[in-house]
Amino acid sequence: MKLQNIVDLDQKYFMNTFGNRTPVCFEKGEGVYLYDTQGKKYCDLLAGIAVNCLGHNHPALVGAIKDQAEKLIHCSSLYYIQNQALLAQKLVSLSCCDKVFFSNSGAEANEGAIKLARLYNQKRGMPEKYEIITLERSFHGRTLATLAATGQDKYHKSFNPLPQKFDAVPANDIAALKNKINKNTCAIMMEPIQGEGGINAVNAEYIKEVRALCDKLDILLIFDEVQCGIGRTGKMFSYEHIGVEPDILTLAKALGGGVPIGAFLAKDAVAKYMEPGDHGSTFGGNPLVCAAGLAVLDTIEKDGLLENAHAMGEYIMEKLKEIAKKCDKIKEVRGKGLMIGIEFSDDIAVKVKDVLFEKGFLIGTIGKNVMRITPPLIITQEDADPFLTEFEKLFTEES
Ligand SMILES: Cc1ncc(COP(=O)(O)O)c(C=O)c1O
Repeated sequence: MKLQNIVDLDQKYFMNTFGNRTPVCFEKGEGVYLYDTQGKKYCDLLAGIAVNCLGHNHPALVGAIKDQAEKLIHCSSLYYIQNQALLAQKLVSLSCCDKVFFSNSGAEANEGAIKLARLYNQKRGMPEKYEIITLERSFHGRTLATLAATGQDKYHKSFNPLPQKFDAVPANDIAALKNKINKNTCAIMMEPIQGEGGINAVNAEYIKEVRALCDKLDILLIFDEVQCGIGRTGKMFSYEHIGVEPDILTLAKALGGGVPIGAFLAKDAVAKYMEPGDHGSTFGGNPLVCAAGLAVLDTIEKDGLLENAHAMGEYIMEKLKEIAKKCDKIKEVRGKGLMIGIEFSDDIAVKVKDVLFEKGFLIGTIGKNVMRITPPLIITQEDADPFLTEFEKLFTEES
């Protein structure tokens, strides 16, 4: 099908939530590369916004999905599901948590986390303790409760009234947090590294202080690692860099390497309050998506992808910082592992994205002045170098 025909169909039949999309349709992928309907090759430095952690067409992931699809794609969670049990076991063994529930997306994982936090207090006889404090510039999803949790007003408009008692405070300001905490505070929820807010790592010392406050005041700490989890930052979970454990942890995006699966995990002391009838999901944790999740985690371990994400993150970031030194249009290069943000001093992010797209490189933008790089964890120097060369040229020519 011609690209124009696809665009025409999309504009006629698909709700216009994505506006004018980048004019391309991808047909297939291989490793870090995508190929469009005209056969043009692109280096995918966005990976479906931190989803395709194994790149495209990875034999272990495709093999696991194919094998499982031939046996059983879906069955209800009214029955025992081997892959669900195995993936839950695997996530528990890798994380600080004891129990898992599978959802279909990041927003749903966060909904589950919010429900669990409220449940924890309701069932302990404190129904008034349901307020949740989040951080400004956070992003937690598009359902009503996760929108309310999201500390960016631009996502709220037109959806009021949103679920009540979510309040956002500025990150890294412990006084502001203390000021907001009250006897009804049930949980503090944050992304240890904010993704949609602009690739902002929350200060480690602040997070340690938050943990101490939570312990002292009987408040739960929820980490939303939907974007920064599953190896993205060079550790399986980004909280490992800080040495602070959450009570509840949420995951999605890279967990299925491209198939829709999310999860919320919790320590036993909290998870035990989730009882029959309290939560559920038709598709969540079905045999197919869990086969994908198992293949992803297995491959990350077997192929040393945490080490690669760390090493390649350092490599790319260092090169970008060198370029930034030579050019006043780049204000800051920041991030951790392969979760990288480049802040420009002007609103040129979309223009830069478009120019790079023409040259065969896919990157993301956040707002008007931040560019995002979240490549597959399998990326090598050979894959990254042409991008770095083009990026440097772009800014040498521009300045
Ligand atoms: C940190 C974080 N939480 C939650 C979400 C929502 O995930 P989903 O789009 O899968 O619902 C996102 C999506 O970008 C995210 O980055």
